[in-house]
Amino acid sequence: MTTKPKAAVSRLDPEPVPRRDWLGLGSLWAMGGALLFATLGMLKLPKAAVLASPSKKFRVALPETLPVGEAFVPAGRSVAIFKDAEGVFAVSTICTHLGCVVKPNAEGFECPCHGSRFHANGEVAKGPAPRPLPWLKVSVNGGLVQVDEGTVVPQGTKVAG
Ligand code: FES
Repeated sequence: MTTKPKAAVSRLDPEPVPRRDWLGLGSLWAMGGALLFATLGMLKLPKAAVLASPSKKFRVALPETLPVGEAFVPAGRSVAIFKDAEGVFAVSTICTHLGCVVKPNAEGFECPCHGSRFHANGEVAKGPAPRPLPWLKVSVNGGLVQVDEGTVVPQGTKVAG
């Protein structure tokens, strides 16, 4: 029987890693990964988790051909803007009953939720809405109408436009 000569081992060759050391290295890698993911999670925390709400003030150009008494509702807003001989005014389209968005019609507004009706000036024509639609602050500057949805003004407040 012949025996193979052992390969010459140089002092510069790395020592083989024993099995127990492999387990130790694995647990170190797992701990490092856990710390990395925890750090990434913490970095993500300070960011806002919700979208910012749009500003209550906005500017819009009224259509040149907006007939008197007809509502102009800007896209994405709950406001109806009117223009007549006395000026420009804005009425909220949030129903005063339970907060549904009312739809403009020929007589004024109609709530699709429980059937309340409002005149074009916001007065209640038919319940159950308890109060008129609020009028909102309007200003006209350079042909643009600025509406502040956060500021209620007395009914009948119109701005020359
Ligand atoms: S929410 Fe408009 S009538 Fe009820």
